[in-house]
Amino acid sequence: MTITVIGAGYVGLVTSAVFSELGNDVFCVDVIKDRVEMLKKGHVPFFEPGLEEILKKNVKQKRLIFTTSYSQSVQKSQVVFVCVGTPPAKNGEADLTYLFGAIEEVAKNLKNYTLVVVKSTFPIGFENDLESIVKKHAKADFEFAVSPEFLKEGTALTDAFHPDRIVIGASSKRAQKILLELHGALPGERIICDMRSAQITKYASNTFLATKISFANAISIICEKAGADVEKVLQGVGADKRIGQSFLKPGVGYGGSCLPKDVNAFIAQASSLDYNFDLLRSVDGINNSQIEMFVEKIRTALCASESNSVNLEGYKIAILGLAFKPNTDDMRDAPSIKVIQALINLGASLTLFDPKAMESCKKIFPNLEYADSIYDAVKDQDSAVIITDWPEFIDADMKKIKKLLRKPIIIDGRNLYDTEMMKELGFTYTSIGR
Ligand code: NAD
Ligand code: UGA
Repeated sequence: MTITVIGAGYVGLVTSAVFSELGNDVFCVDVIKDRVEMLKKGHVPFFEPGLEEILKKNVKQKRLIFTTSYSQSVQKSQVVFVCVGTPPAKNGEADLTYLFGAIEEVAKNLKNYTLVVVKSTFPIGFENDLESIVKKHAKADFEFAVSPEFLKEGTALTDAFHPDRIVIGASSKRAQKILLELHGALPGERIICDMRSAQITKYASNTFLATKISFANAISIICEKAGADVEKVLQGVGADKRIGQSFLKPGVGYGGSCLPKDVNAFIAQASSLDYNFDLLRSVDGINNSQIEMFVEKIRTALCASESNSVNLEGYKIAILGLAFKPNTDDMRDAPSIKVIQALINLGASLTLFDPKAMESCKKIFPNLEYADSIYDAVKDQDSAVIITDWPEFIDADMKKIKKLLRKPIIIDGRNLYDTEMMKELGFTYTSIGR
């Protein structure tokens, strides 16, 4: 088939990679000219393992074209996937400005029968408005469908080529058939439903994942107070196949461009349906307090011997890990931002290091000091604070780190190291829930 993907972000580029790799002709459209030019030259504007290689390959084989032109792409396509951002508005609801803008452009450029599929995450109710926009502008026959995306950053290609499920929210048999055919070569359960069920499936999935994480974080607090080890407890809990081990890792809380925004958007969606989603309010509350408690841990670890020290003036701290999770350079809603800001407010001097996200972080904190490696970062510091669970940090030479630090204090927000090993190495080691 010939398809158009609107939006060259994480979801749009991965969607373009998957469908071109499966042998379709794909146009990928973005409004940002520089981004399109960069992609034409084979450069992906962010770090996602394997993505650049697969896009380059498909461009070379002439199955994938990047463009800013709706007319040259949409008019030739049987299917259009809309993958633009739906960021949070100030009131927590989803801001659908980009989605409405993109849909209107698509509608104006329809020439023959086209299936318009929204992959962006958006609340129910608006599917009617989007369909009305298409109806108003379209001069050709069209159908409308929703097929949410479930990829995770850092493992986006693996997730997209090996999905657990493909959700097809489409009312007509014709639309369902097209989407089933297009996804034919991919594994995973097919869930065919109405559009609203597809939209709610997406929000319910993300908010359930957030709930698991906040539950793990709540258990970590209980373990800490009780003198138990949260890692052992959650290993025991997750060993029950009905619960599972994944998304039960305690830490500094969940961040990123999706879980925090989708929790708030789903709370707002529930309110609009006259349901008070208190469970999700607690999930969000636990997530926010996890950061506050972590900052307090840092303060206590550094000032324990100095009674009444309320601020961290004169303390030098290495911040290890800036991205919201490993294997990405994405800093959107990263927990590190809040921790860094809180430490700056307390007067600490910071040196930052991340294997991939330093350029993204410089856009947020241009005036802070950045190190070239984990070892440069910890040199002569009063402590090291770990915020992202990069594999590089797990494999780091801890003896060398101990020598380089001025004081052997590590506050670990991701439980990367064995507590006994850290004790034997002579660190004052604080982690989460143990
Ligand atoms: P993104 O911000 O990385 O990319 C969006 C792209 O759309 C940008 O390049 C932007 O320039 C472009 N765009 C905006 N308006 C446009 C228009 N009118 N025409 C063409 N291009 C336009 O966003 P993302 O992270 O890929 O997320 C997209 C959607 O998918 C969101 O709704 C998000 O919640 C959802 N989602 C994201 C992920 C993820 O891991 N990032 C996973 C699943 C679902
Ligand atoms: C998340 C979902 O996992 C995807 O399925 C979904 O498609 C995507 O949102 C989306 O809708 O955009 P993503 O935000 O890329 O994916 O990353 P996750 O792996 O979910 O991690 C989110 C945050 O939770 C990170 O800050 C991570 O460190 C944290 N996390 C994750 C934990 O603290 N503990 C865990 O056990 C797992």
